[in-house]
Amino acid sequence: MKGCGVCGSSVEPVIFFGRMPLANGFLRQEDFSTEYFYDLTFGFCSNCRMAQLIENVPLEKMFHAEYPFFSSTSSGMTQHFRRLAHEVAHRWLQAPNAFVVEVGSNDGALLRNIAPLGIRHLGVEPSGNVAKAASSNGVETTCRFFDPVAARDIVATYGQADVVLATNCFCHIQDLHSLAEALEIVLKPVGVLIFEDPYLGDLIGNVAYDQIYDEHSYYFSILSVDHWLTQHGFETVDVRPQTVHGGSMRYVVGRVGTCERSRSVDTQKERELNFGLQRFETYLDFRSKIHFSREKLLRLLQRLKNEGRRVVGYAATSKSTTVLNYCEISTELIEFISDTTPIKQWKYSPGMHIPVRPPTEFESPYPDYALLFAWNHAEEITNKELHFNEAGGRWIRYVPRVEIVGEGGDK
Ligand code: TMP
Ligand code: ZN
Repeated sequence: MKGCGVCGSSVEPVIFFGRMPLANGFLRQEDFSTEYFYDLTFGFCSNCRMAQLIENVPLEKMFHAEYPFFSSTSSGMTQHFRRLAHEVAHRWLQAPNAFVVEVGSNDGALLRNIAPLGIRHLGVEPSGNVAKAASSNGVETTCRFFDPVAARDIVATYGQADVVLATNCFCHIQDLHSLAEALEIVLKPVGVLIFEDPYLGDLIGNVAYDQIYDEHSYYFSILSVDHWLTQHGFETVDVRPQTVHGGSMRYVVGRVGTCERSRSVDTQKERELNFGLQRFETYLDFRSKIHFSREKLLRLLQRLKNEGRRVVGYAATSKSTTVLNYCEISTELIEFISDTTPIKQWKYSPGMHIPVRPPTEFESPYPDYALLFAWNHAEEITNKELHFNEAGGRWIRYVPRVEIVGEGGDK
């Protein structure tokens, strides 16, 4: 059994999803024969309560110069980042020479709101193409992984940071102790760290098992985050639930004793204990629900196929890779996947090799059903696609339950 990435104890496997390709490994036909696969197993450490992957994929296979995920593609996320940036700038970056570092700054979706305020900032981003996009958006960016060596270089050039930000990033970092050491180096003695990631309580509560894939090495809760960070002299002083990415948690962290501690931390811990995030049985129940969800989705898609309906996937998200491969959904059941990201279009989805097409193909003509892989952007998408509904099209969702929207479940 694999040792826990935080405490070294053994990690209990909860569910094995099978051999899995890279979630963002969109590929061309000529690359099918060399496609990379790994064992996708979600596990839980009963000792420190960290939920995590049992096998990790080498970092350079996931984060490179053709990384296809651009944070700015969703207008909902763009708004979310704007609000976060203004809140942070207003509350923590008012000193004349204030300095903020963002870890995993992607295309600058967050920092581009801070750069025009004239605040000293630096984005740290290992994927070359998205880092370049950030630079051309006026965001100062260094293209590298964030580790103690990078942290020392940053301090040598810019000095220590008042604030470190990270959104949807820490859960990607496999060596959490190296990360914490880098944070110890880069952050001022009274600096604050603000990070947010998909939240384990929502993942389990909504049976959102498609959030489990190679890039997400860890699935955080306040119980596990606190255990990890206190080993490095940090403490969580505030937690704030967020709706983005199907339920995320924002953690505000400082060095022990340097920040006022909100009651939200203990309240959230209580909630987690009541929900059972510390008990292995909760994870076994999650596993049963995942099995059930798979059966229900397959039954629904098979029925629609038997009825001669056209079903198209909507948004080639990283999450869709887990669902498609775990449920073994092929072009028999889904014609193609429509996606707005140019770098994904005219390629094939990882593993199941479903064609990815631009949205123009979605409209000509509209299919009978669209399977919504970007369920986290449901509101934005359904508002945008009113013509699809007017043409008689229906949405299929599978989180939090498998259903044709408006019909209330599979019959
Ligand atoms: P995410 O769910 O991991 O944020 O991935 C978003 C993906 O969904 C990205 O490939 C772009 C795609 N997408 C669309 O195709 N249409 C849309 O309207 C939205 C919001 C996203
Ligand atoms: Zn552990």
